[in-house]
Amino acid sequence: MKKTTIWMLGVAIAWSVNVKAQTDTKMDQFISELMGKMTVEEKIGQLNLVTGGEAVTGSVVSTGVEAKIKAGQIGGIFSMSSPAKIRAAQELAVKQSRLGIPIIFGMDVIHGYKTMFPIPLGLAATWDMGLIRESARIAAVEASADGLNWTFSPMVDISRDPRWGRISEGSGEDTYLSARIATEMVKGYQGDDLTAHNTLMACVKHFALYGAAEAGRDYHTTDMSLHRMYNEYFPPYKAAIDAGAGTVMTSFNDINGVPATANKWLMTDVLRNQWGFNGMVVTDYTAINELIDHGLGDLQAVSALALKAGVHMDMVGEGYLTTLKKSLDEGKVTKTEIDEACRLILETKYKLGLFDDPFRYCNEERAKNNILTPTHLAKAREIAGKSFVLLRNENNILPLKKNGTVALIGPLSNTRANMPGTWSVSADLGNTPSLLEGMQAALGDNVKIVQHLGANLLSDAAYQERATMFGRTIPRDERPEAEIIAEALTVAESADVIVAALGESSEMSGESSSRTDLDIPDTQKRLLEALLKTGKPVVLVLFTGRPLTLTWEHGHVPAILNVWFGGTETGKAVADVLFGDVNPSGKLPATFPQNVGQIPLYYSAKNTGRPLAAGAWFEKFRSNYLDVTNEPLYPFGYGLSYTTFTYGDIQLDKNCMKADEKITATVTVTNSGNYDGEEVVQLYIRDLVGSVTRPVKELKGFQKIFLKKGESRDVVFEIDVEDLKFYNNALEFVAEPGDFKLFIGTNSSDVKETNFSLH
Ligand code: BGC
Repeated sequence: MKKTTIWMLGVAIAWSVNVKAQTDTKMDQFISELMGKMTVEEKIGQLNLVTGGEAVTGSVVSTGVEAKIKAGQIGGIFSMSSPAKIRAAQELAVKQSRLGIPIIFGMDVIHGYKTMFPIPLGLAATWDMGLIRESARIAAVEASADGLNWTFSPMVDISRDPRWGRISEGSGEDTYLSARIATEMVKGYQGDDLTAHNTLMACVKHFALYGAAEAGRDYHTTDMSLHRMYNEYFPPYKAAIDAGAGTVMTSFNDINGVPATANKWLMTDVLRNQWGFNGMVVTDYTAINELIDHGLGDLQAVSALALKAGVHMDMVGEGYLTTLKKSLDEGKVTKTEIDEACRLILETKYKLGLFDDPFRYCNEERAKNNILTPTHLAKAREIAGKSFVLLRNENNILPLKKNGTVALIGPLSNTRANMPGTWSVSADLGNTPSLLEGMQAALGDNVKIVQHLGANLLSDAAYQERATMFGRTIPRDERPEAEIIAEALTVAESADVIVAALGESSEMSGESSSRTDLDIPDTQKRLLEALLKTGKPVVLVLFTGRPLTLTWEHGHVPAILNVWFGGTETGKAVADVLFGDVNPSGKLPATFPQNVGQIPLYYSAKNTGRPLAAGAWFEKFRSNYLDVTNEPLYPFGYGLSYTTFTYGDIQLDKNCMKADEKITATVTVTNSGNYDGEEVVQLYIRDLVGSVTRPVKELKGFQKIFLKKGESRDVVFEIDVEDLKFYNNALEFVAEPGDFKLFIGTNSSDVKETNFSLH
């Protein structure tokens, strides 16, 4: 770099630091002045977050909202949208409360606003950081056009237990991939300027370890070593904070005996003191009240505990609103603690520019023109296609030819409400084509589609009711199953190929949707068997919010395309992939086990003292099972393409590195098949000797590349000492000299390997 450029850069940095300092001082002065005018009650009022009730996201509903706004008893509202409604509420706050403090408006904008993108687990399967950021950007543009300025996203809870329904809402099992995605999501939502009318403040959740619930049962206990927390579960939260996430949400679970929402070590020592987070912390839905059931005391006691822990805003439960003044009078909390919480909430509003213009997000024109635009829908279609994971494709049955007749059979073949998947509270279901409608729109007259539901989602009506809540219904047919299947077979008779649309409904994953049996439901499986018996080619289009156990399907169904829940444009994207306009490139962000008994099963496990030899099944006195191998059905990072990629051997520029050096690893990847396509080239490392046991593999890098058929490319990764660091037992982040393995490959199992050492 030239000297002048360095000088200019230096000036630019100094200038921006200076501007930030000035803004901070301005903000501090403004807020100090405002707080000087506030009564204790008004300060406590700012800590209260209520629901506007548009979407049901918890069991308690806020009441008396209007009166509370006027009385200065509300700091934020979520689950309310549209410029008109938000303007009305904001006017009450600004014009009718004593100090006119604006309200912050939040919403669960999780994987899109009205234009829905794939569920987060599907987004993660794209391994495409640019597209993930774009999805968040579009979500922010749409939600902010509808009056909102705060989203309860990204959800970055690592989960290695697909019984847990909320695995659908995160980026899967891997620390590195999840941390990368967390960064992109925050940047996508917040953009460069939080005061801009088209950005949202992010809220990283659920802090912390919510995805490690025992037995995969939602809200269940978490008990974990510090070593594992710091190395495997914390990094995605920290990445979101390092990327500038403005707010943090507490989790429901308890952690090593102290529920997160009352956990001072977590909220203050780790979050603020170790990680330097300086924004506000909001609880999850009634999480303070739930501390009573956790067994920490009555509402007054638990509210004080939460405040003292470093939790600032109380979602829906009103424990703060109803008890903090009393606790202050009784000396159980301090004025400083209340002031600190109030200040951080006011700062959040300041950073969003709400004190300058409380109505900056309320613009009917933007709401009309910026939502569900053709550009957004096209992007949703592109991203959906890239999220699908081709699990199996025997004899290249896919892609299909664009002619003839397709029989689209299955309970998920024509249900709009189930397309966007879980946590799509803002979705416009009227504008969400079903699979059938989307496929028809994409294929036009080229392909004739005949369709039948073929089976109930679940044979048990009560289970089906639980699995199709919030209007996500799927029609039931109470006739005998054999009769329904026979009718479906008649429909399929005329077809050249059968596409079976089976799996989970959208509410079978997500919050409070844990399952212990991860098979495709029995009734659907019997339909699948019958379809296979026709002898026609069968393609399983699998809807799911989690890894399922597909051992039987893998053995019997020639082609399986996992489409998760792909969002608004699912149907078109499915047609794009099935008929070869898009070559699938998604890779699994979570391991698919052979059976539920293997769970938790994840690629980055420890070796144990009695590992099983690679490729072996059972050996007495080794770490294995009598009845199943240790292998997954589909490993982390797995996904097929219509083409094939071959990997050359790994070339290192050197085999030894010092702490201040880098190693360059190069591999030649060739598209050796018949289609152009994208491949996710994955880099893993194993630290062979450590002061603590280290995983057998850890993802440390990846590159998604496009290769024309026949094309080769050298893919280059640089490894430096930061990639080799981990938290030791003293929780120091260190790289220990010694030997390492380096792997590059198409998934976490199928890799080339070499060795190097750190001196
Ligand atoms: C969920 C959160 C969500 C909140 C507000 C809770 O039930 O756990 O993820 O942000 O509701 O809707």
